[in-house]
Amino acid sequence: MKFAIAGGTGTLGKATVLAAQERGHNTVVLARSRGIDITVPEQVTPALEGVDAVIDASSVATMDAKESVRFFGKATRTLLAAEQEHGIGHHVAVSIIGAARINAGYYAGKATQEKILRGLSGGWSILRAAQFHDFALQFEDRYAFANIRLVPRMRAQPVSVDEVAAALLEIVEGGPQGLAPDIAGPQEERMADMVRRYLSVKNSPNRALEIPLPGRLGRGLRDGSLVAGPHARLGTQTYNEWLATQL
Ligand SMILES: NC(=O)c1ccc[n+]([C@@H]2O[C@H](COP(=O)([O-])OP(=O)(O)OC[C@H]3O[C@@H](n4cnc5c(N)ncnc54)[C@H](OP(=O)(O)O)[C@@H]3O)[C@@H](O)[C@H]2O)c1
Repeated sequence: MKFAIAGGTGTLGKATVLAAQERGHNTVVLARSRGIDITVPEQVTPALEGVDAVIDASSVATMDAKESVRFFGKATRTLLAAEQEHGIGHHVAVSIIGAARINAGYYAGKATQEKILRGLSGGWSILRAAQFHDFALQFEDRYAFANIRLVPRMRAQPVSVDEVAAALLEIVEGGPQGLAPDIAGPQEERMADMVRRYLSVKNSPNRALEIPLPGRLGRGLRDGSLVAGPHARLGTQTYNEWLATQL
C-alpha cells in the first residue's frame, strides 16, 4: 500500500515511515522541509496522488491554545479535503490520552482535531498515545533559570515511539476503526523524576524543580488525565530502558 505520512520528519513520523517501509509499504512524507505545508491545499492535493491512506503525525510547537487550534484545525481540514478529492478512505490521526478532556493549551488543538474526525460519518481512526519517552528532553534547556530547570507537576505513562509507530501501522493496515484503544508505556512516572534521571545520565549540573501549573492545564497534568485507563494497550519499553539507549 502507499501511505502519506504528515509530519513524517518528526519524532513519531520518522519512526512511522521506517515501520511502514519495513513492512513493504510505499511512503510519501508531507512536511514543510519536504516542500509540502499541510495547511496549503495546493501543496497537499498533488502529493496524495496514488495514496491509499493518510497518517497524520504532524505537530506545532506551541503551548498557546489558539495557535494549536488554528494549526490542527486547518491541517486536518486541508488533509481531509485533499483525501476526498482523491477518494482516499482512511485518515489516521495521532492524539494524546486525556487531551480532549483537558482541552487547554496545546491540548486544545488536539481536542479540535479529534472533534473534526469524530464528526465524520466514517473513514477515520484516532490513536491516543501517552507522552513519548523523549518528552522529558524538552525540559533540558527550556524553562531555565541558572542551573534550575522548571518542570510542571505532571503524571505521565511514557511510551516508546517505535511501539506507537507499530500500533499506527496495524491501524492503517486494518482499515478505519474510529477510536482505537489508547497506547501507553508499561508504568506511570512523574515528569520531574524523568527529567532528573535524564539530567543524571547526561552528567548535567542542572537540577529539575517541580512546579504546579495553574488553571485547567495544570490540573489536567497533575490529576492523571494523561495516564492510561484500564482498557489501554501497554507497550513494553520502560523509561529507564529507553534512558539506557541514550548513553
Ligand atoms: N511528543 C509526544 O510526547 C506525543 C505524545 C502523544 C501524541 N503525540 C502526537 O503525535 C504527533 C507527532 O508528535 P511529535 O512529537 O512526533 O512531533 P514533532 O517531532 O514535533 O514533529 C512535527 C512534524 O510535523 C511537521 N509539520 C509541522 N508543521 C507542518 C506543516 N504546516 N505542514 C507539514 N508538516 C508540518 C514537522 O515537519 P516540518 O517542520 O518540516 O514541517 C514534523 O515532521 C502529534 O500530533 C502529537 O500531538 C505526541
